[in-house]
Amino acid sequence: MAEVVVPLTTRNLTESDLPACGWYGTATDLVYVAEAIQRARRGEVDYLAVCPPSGLPVAVGGIDYTKPPGAATIWQLSVRAELRSCGIGTVLIGELEQRARDHGLRWVELGVDDNNSRSRTLYERLGYAQTGHESASWNQQAPDGSTTRYETRITLMRKQLS
Ligand SMILES: CC(C)(COP(=O)(O)OP(=O)(O)OC[C@H]1O[C@@H](n2cnc3c(N)ncnc32)[C@H](O)[C@@H]1OP(=O)(O)O)[C@@H](O)C(=O)NCCC(=O)NCCS
Repeated sequence: MAEVVVPLTTRNLTESDLPACGWYGTATDLVYVAEAIQRARRGEVDYLAVCPPSGLPVAVGGIDYTKPPGAATIWQLSVRAELRSCGIGTVLIGELEQRARDHGLRWVELGVDDNNSRSRTLYERLGYAQTGHESASWNQQAPDGSTTRYETRITLMRKQLS
């Protein structure tokens, strides 16, 4: 097996990156990303891209400073599917936590679907602890274009920043 070390940079995601983010999901998913970029311009959130030397995003995710009071919420984390389990998500979360520290915050929160146990294990490894649960539901689009309602339970997790 060959192994290559790839330098990664993290920067703010911009509208000009959107054509290179087709891997993120459906057109509807990318609308949510575009909305987050607008919110970043207003200072409500930071929304980041992790890039190899090509400068093209291979991971994106945000931190929302508007909730909960006194903390911030990490959300919409995604690493390009072919590059998962290589440590890129860990880099992205570390940068988002640093943005929270730069805002003078001592706590960050996130929510993880109870059907996403691998992500939950990652967050626990990074120091997040469960604080509660909430119900959630959203529309999911199948490859054939049909839409179904997905209902689940979200575990809320919190970390104190050092
Ligand atoms: C969740 C997600 C953002 C994590 O990103 P990631 O890049 O896969 O995360 P990491 O690689 O840092 O850590 C995850 C795994 O890699 C392992 N890992 C970390 N660094 C590694 C390295 N250098 N070499 C090999 N494995 C490594 C971790 O132990 C962990 O184990 P796993 O394979 O059982 O999951 C990503 O998997 C993803 O986009 N998933 C789909 C969308 C999603 O679920 N988003 C989160 C919603 S809450």
